[in-house]
Amino acid sequence: MAARSLTPEERDTLVAAATAARERAAAPYSHFHVGAALLAEDGRIFQGCNVESASYGLTNCAERTAVFKAISEGVRGFRAVAVVTGADEPTSPCGACRQVLWDQCRDIAVVMATTGGALEETTLATLLPRAFEL
Ligand code: THU
Repeated sequence: MAARSLTPEERDTLVAAATAARERAAAPYSHFHVGAALLAEDGRIFQGCNVESASYGLTNCAERTAVFKAISEGVRGFRAVAVVTGADEPTSPCGACRQVLWDQCRDIAVVMATTGGALEETTLATLLPRAFEL
């Protein structure tokens, strides 16, 4: 099913949740703090931040943190994800996160925002055309 866009209120709430999650980023190596918030069909919001490792490759992005939290709580069915960074321009989810989001959420709305107030909304199908599915 194609992604449905959010109401302005839903978008604001989701971006606020991702902004709050970003405050909890554990990013001592990159100093690039990322927050994510995943909106479930039932209205619940799951927050995530990036968690870096001294063994750099073990780092987990904010988006995957949010997805894994929701899935591990037994939640299925999602509407949107918001990603917030402190960059000048909105940051889009990395390739690994796009695949994991597709695996668990299929075509959801993706809101990319900055702490400075820039905002873009797109869909996961736009960011990940011809997604891999088993
Ligand atoms: N990062 C995310 O959390 N999400 C993304 O979509 C891109 C990158 C994190 C990983 C790492 O902790 C830091 O940003 C720099 O790459």
